[in-house]
Amino acid sequence: MLSRSRIEEGDYVLILINRKRKWVIRVDRSKKFSSDKGILDLNTLIGAEYGSEVPLSTGIKAEIHRPLLIDFIERGFSRATQVIYPKDAGYMIYMSGVSSGSRVLEAGVGSGFLTATIANIVKPHGKVYAYEIRKEFIELALRNLKMLNLNEFVEIKQRDVKEGIDEKDLDAAFIDIPDPWEALNNLYQALKPSAPILFFFPTINQVEKLYEAIKEHKGFSDLRCVEILLREYRVTKGMTRPSTRMIGHTGYIVFARKRKISP
Ligand SMILES: C[S@@+](CC[C@H](N)C(=O)[O-])C[C@H]1O[C@@H](n2cnc3c(N)ncnc32)[C@H](O)[C@@H]1O
Repeated sequence: MLSRSRIEEGDYVLILINRKRKWVIRVDRSKKFSSDKGILDLNTLIGAEYGSEVPLSTGIKAEIHRPLLIDFIERGFSRATQVIYPKDAGYMIYMSGVSSGSRVLEAGVGSGFLTATIANIVKPHGKVYAYEIRKEFIELALRNLKMLNLNEFVEIKQRDVKEGIDEKDLDAAFIDIPDPWEALNNLYQALKPSAPILFFFPTINQVEKLYEAIKEHKGFSDLRCVEILLREYRVTKGMTRPSTRMIGHTGYIVFARKRKISP
């Protein structure tokens, strides 16, 4: 992410009018940004300081910010699959122990939302080895990753993890495919001793199936299954309360550690 304080042509910026009206766009001097609150000539942004206010054609003001990863994920990336949202990705990253320099496996790239989150942590010396069976999702994920120049920290293979994983001694694995129990042995072989593995499932019967398969395989221990519920608040003096709307369900996260299988 950029550390410059002034906007240059080609930068991605966050246009912020209010909580619901936020856009991540690329600054192109020949283009105009248009919304229900007015039009903005993007040429006027070049040289402006990040965090400053600019008037739209209607006189309504917009703030121009440097987008964070969460802004790209919520407002910039395209999506064609179910994706892993920041509330779940944050916990998964924490439990995985990955840091800059880690070599990580990912199965099920989809739209690349989780891929971007992991790549942002392991860069600049680490790598995400990501497996995805569908070419159109690989292309979409790479377009998303490119917006943040994160593609150079990711190697995406059009492969089924059930058929094999090339890498060995990986520091952690993130698995978001419907039937990971079919790939359990390949995942086991790819990880370094004691490495953590995180699974994401939309349904609880998948969780049970995984637990059963792990019991039989014996190569993973310390299992933990959680669901993350995030509740936002409407803060107004004397009237602060939880928001009426809330995301009811995204999925279940399963954590496990690789263990040595006793003979
Ligand atoms: C729900 S999406 C993943 C979304 C992704 N985690 C994100 O945050 O954008 C699941 C993906 O797994 C892929 N997939 C399913 N089975 C697979 C397998 N055996 N090996 C590799 N990819 C697989 C699907 O094509 C799909 O793109």
